[in-house]
Amino acid sequence: MSENRSSFSGRIGFVLAAAGSAVGLGNLWRFPYLAAQYGGGIFVLCYIILALTFGFALMTTEIAIGRKTGLSCIGAYKKLSSKFSFLGYIAWVVPIIILPYYSVIGGWVCKYVAVYLTGQHNAAAEATFFKNFAMNPTSWVEPTGWFLLFLALTAAAVLLGVEKGVERVSKIMMPILIVLMVAISIFVLTLKHEVLDSNGNPTGEVRTALQGLRYYLVPDLSGFTFKTAVKTVCAAMSQLFYSMSLAMGIMITYGSYTKKDTDLVKSVNQIELFDTGVALLAGLMIIPSMFAFKGAEGLAANGPSLMFISLPEVFAQMPLGRFVGLVFFVLVFFAAITSSISLMETIVSMVMDRTRLGRTAACIIIFLVCLAVGIPSALGYGVWDGVRLLGLQFLDFFDFISNSVIMPIVALLTCILIGWIIGTKTITDEVCRNGEKFGRKALYEFMVKYLAPIFLVVILVFSVLSAFKIIEV
Ligand code: TRP
Repeated sequence: MSENRSSFSGRIGFVLAAAGSAVGLGNLWRFPYLAAQYGGGIFVLCYIILALTFGFALMTTEIAIGRKTGLSCIGAYKKLSSKFSFLGYIAWVVPIIILPYYSVIGGWVCKYVAVYLTGQHNAAAEATFFKNFAMNPTSWVEPTGWFLLFLALTAAAVLLGVEKGVERVSKIMMPILIVLMVAISIFVLTLKHEVLDSNGNPTGEVRTALQGLRYYLVPDLSGFTFKTAVKTVCAAMSQLFYSMSLAMGIMITYGSYTKKDTDLVKSVNQIELFDTGVALLAGLMIIPSMFAFKGAEGLAANGPSLMFISLPEVFAQMPLGRFVGLVFFVLVFFAAITSSISLMETIVSMVMDRTRLGRTAACIIIFLVCLAVGIPSALGYGVWDGVRLLGLQFLDFFDFISNSVIMPIVALLTCILIGWIIGTKTITDEVCRNGEKFGRKALYEFMVKYLAPIFLVVILVFSVLSAFKIIEV
């Protein structure tokens, strides 16, 4: 760990950097498809409640740990309690699992940039286009090729140390992305679609995007059983970890770069608001229109491919669709590559800290590891469709192991460490060190000591039991 840690110039710099790491494919790609899969409004409601309670408590904890210790995750946990130093290592494994499959999705984004650049936008609007590309059972060149391109770009940026440059570009791109998303969402809400029967003949019934908006925002409690409730909360929780880059040591590192006089409460609120806002906007862009085109069942059936199937369909109906599509996917690419660079940078700097390897060697090794782990994810929907781990395709498996198993374990142990071993006072004192008002202090203490641990145990048990098919969901 370097002696002279660089620090953020001010609070806004810190908030923007942390939000930049948090906003990525998690918001744009993962949130909408989970919301579609888990019943729309009800998922969104669960997510918002969790963000305001768990998200707030965990992010405050991690950033405060970072600022207090001035170290990144392995060192920080060790400094808090030598018995818990293993926790830093577990947290550190998470980016290694996430980065390879993150790059597979990043590769899909690259593919769509190329598609819009070369004017294949009409072909891309066909429902089979995505399947022929990423889920083709005979071709392995395309899925692995785009994955490799994205991973290589990430590695090159980390190797050349140009991440500052990329970050600067993405700081300009981010606001443009948000403006574009708002514009696309408004356009999307004007769409309607005539429902076809099973033979493809018009039924005369028209489904509007506004009905889809209702599906997206108004929780529908009919048919909501205990089982679906647990399932929805589990999915929302895994999404929270992923989207806010929690339970993997990243926010500890960001915290360690923060100046002592920065108001942490305000910062956490703003990072959360930003991250959740972008996710909600992404859903707004994708779900109402897909609902109009495909109905609720059709929406849920797409899974991880949702964004790549729904948006080209919308762009095809938009004036200047090819241009808007191109700009959109380029912006998504920037959001994705800043996140993947930050993921790889975390892994590489930790390898450099722990071994005698230089940056180049560490980079090459991590690149090769990601390549080996990522290829099965890239091929999992196509050529290797037959291979399943715990009944899941590779990409879903890695996603499950990191977000639904390891991250809840890290979060649980962090809560036990803070709530029961060293005491929440360590954190609350750090938060209030300049006399800041910690408005939700009581909530914070209750969350970390009681509610979060209980919830996390339930979620872990449930995830593992359902993965091993011990309970049927
Ligand atoms: N939160 C990021 C997203 O929403 C993904 C992510 C997870 C990440 N862990 C990270 C990004 C660590 C940067 C660093 O896409």
